[in-house]
Amino acid sequence: MLKPENPRQLSLRKMRGDDLPAVLKLEASAFSDPWPPEAFSDDIIETAWLLLRDEQIIGYTFAIMVMDECSLINVAIAPSEQQQGYGLFMMRELIFRLYTEQKIRHYYLDVRSSNVAAQRLYSKLGFKQLGIRKSYYHKPPEDAIVMGLILPPLNQEARRIDG
Ligand SMILES: CC(C)(COP(=O)(O)OP(=O)(O)OC[C@H]1O[C@@H](n2cnc3c(N)ncnc32)[C@H](O)[C@@H]1OP(=O)(O)O)[C@@H](O)C(=O)NCCC(=O)NCCS
Repeated sequence: MLKPENPRQLSLRKMRGDDLPAVLKLEASAFSDPWPPEAFSDDIIETAWLLLRDEQIIGYTFAIMVMDECSLINVAIAPSEQQQGYGLFMMRELIFRLYTEQKIRHYYLDVRSSNVAAQRLYSKLGFKQLGIRKSYYHKPPEDAIVMGLILPPLNQEARRIDG
């Protein structure tokens, strides 16, 4: 597998407790129905990954692991930084790490049926539509599209994660 390109010196790291104010701000600016601060428990913070540019948090997501599966939740890039390739970079880099370091092969996520931008991003990563959860979201009420990505067993041969 080839490492994702990183021409802009971006970095990905796990979230710490003192990142919470910046992440809450990003969450509130990126989603119509953001999670309230109390939803960010220590357990959930443990699962969060941040995308940084010049030490500034510009994106984040939760990667919740169950056995050899990963659920990706709250994928977000700061509104002022969207459509510059950061979302694609963050997700590629994260999946690359989980795949190569933890051998995680199965990835799942839910996305609003109207969220074409996110669906395109996930398709570019190789995610396929698996099904629909009726009326899954609130504010506004909407169906969720369930998408999944299953990577081949890891061997020493180089592979890309871009479908
Ligand atoms: C969805 C989101 C994470 C994408 O991040 P981003 O950094 O803007 O995306 P990128 O610039 O890396 O774009 C990657 C691909 O996604 C698609 N895409 C991204 N924004 C798009 C838009 N506004 N319209 C259509 N396609 C879009 C394109 O296919 C793009 O590839 P391309 O530029 O080669 O065409 C970002 O828009 C976001 O945070 N939105 C608000 C929160 C959200 O909806 N999260 C998803 C929850 S499931």
